[in-house]
Amino acid sequence: MHPGKKAASLAAIKHVEHDSLLGVGSGSTVNIFIELLAQSGIRIEGCVASSVKTAKLLEKHHFRVMDLNLAGQLELYIDGADEVDPQLNLIKGGGGALTREKIVAGASTRFVCIADHTKEVNVLGEFPLPIEVIPMARSFVSREIVRLGADPEYREAPPTDNGNVIVDCYGFNITDPRALEAELNAIPGVVTNGLFARRPADTLIIGHDNGEASTRTAAK
Ligand code: 5RP
Repeated sequence: MHPGKKAASLAAIKHVEHDSLLGVGSGSTVNIFIELLAQSGIRIEGCVASSVKTAKLLEKHHFRVMDLNLAGQLELYIDGADEVDPQLNLIKGGGGALTREKIVAGASTRFVCIADHTKEVNVLGEFPLPIEVIPMARSFVSREIVRLGADPEYREAPPTDNGNVIVDCYGFNITDPRALEAELNAIPGVVTNGLFARRPADTLIIGHDNGEASTRTAAK
């Protein structure tokens, strides 16, 4: 188990209350969190998963997986990230689950992001920004991304859980994540992009290789 990811996941368990409704993200860090949560003995009323893979892992551990439409507002969302800036804006979607992740994060009162220390950056954008796109709009959206100054690359991967494709964008200079998030989402054919700036994390738990974790909360 990756020591930084494990340290962050262990620290996140302390944020989970008995009988709560929990949103659960996707990725290798979240997978560790799910294993540790199962071992913790904390009673969970229900979980909303941000991907089919996460739902399967939750079910394997006998958590009750709920439809978001039936669950309503969630108390807490736990998810990883590909990059985190000092304001707790994120790039997500390395695993292709960005749209459902953004929905579940939006429906949660508190978002705790768990990551190992390699994910911290001063300015977002070194990690290619994923965009989920309706398949017929792939070329059009890519031309629009070139017009905005970045380099799009079609991700050769199975369709997303929503039946769409991912275009990864290289070279965006993300000095205003909120503005870029809105601009990209306004392109017809874009389902959503991996910038989490309109709804950033509320709390960031960074795990270190020595097994320690540090926690930061966003300034209001
Ligand atoms: C998936 C994500 C993940 O949270 C992100 O890719 C981080 O993954 P990992 O925990 O494996 O480093 O956004 O869409």
